Amino acid sequence: MSPVHPLPTPRAVLFDVYGTLFDVYSVGVRAEALFPGFGERLALLWRDKQIEYTRLVSMSRRYRPFSDLTLRALQFACARLQCDLTPAASDALMGEYRGLAPFAENEAVLRDLQARGVRCGVLSNGDPPMLDAVIGHAGFSAWLDPVLSAHSVQRFKIDDAVYALGPAALGLPLRDILFVSSNAWDAIGATWYGYTTLWINRSGVPLDPLDTPPTRTGTSLRAVLDFFPS
Ligand code: LAC
Repeated sequence: MSPVHPLPTPRAVLFDVYGTLFDVYSVGVRAEALFPGFGERLALLWRDKQIEYTRLVSMSRRYRPFSDLTLRALQFACARLQCDLTPAASDALMGEYRGLAPFAENEAVLRDLQARGVRCGVLSNGDPPMLDAVIGHAGFSAWLDPVLSAHSVQRFKIDDAVYALGPAALGLPLRDILFVSSNAWDAIGATWYGYTTLWINRSGVPLDPLDTPPTRTGTSLRAVLDFFPS
């Protein structure tokens, strides 16, 4: 039997943003108020299309900022569900994206990491104005540095160019950086790239069977703390 090597303690943590630090489905409440009976479906379809569009434009080298793709995904989702997206409704729902709710445990986890002296940042598909808005709205700005955006390389995850931003900005080898995402595809992409990874599987969905388990899987952001000695 081969010996079990304990994981080295990460020297920095990079978080995905949408879905990981902030609940993208929190828009469903506003969507339900605007379009009764459609809020949940709208939120799901909106998110699916948003991610689909990042892949389309990244693979075809037709980059558009995440905020633009988010708006186009909203337009599609409303058209598909036959919800009348007036300019006011569009502004209201896009506004929600600037103030998405963080998951309940996240502030305490970021405070804990800060107290331990662990450097934390984000690596996100979001463009800088979106990221600044949502991070600032939650009051997380002081705990997240660097804020790395796919916008700087005009590609989206899971393109290597985006994941390469992490070690370049932190000046650390990949294995010393813990990358945390609730999006399984993102956790897998980061694992392929070489990060130590944590997949936050809040809703108990199966892992995509692509022969690449993340380094660890947890059910809330608190699982990040298990990588550090108590
Ligand atoms: C992000 C999206 C993919 O923040 O969740 O990068």
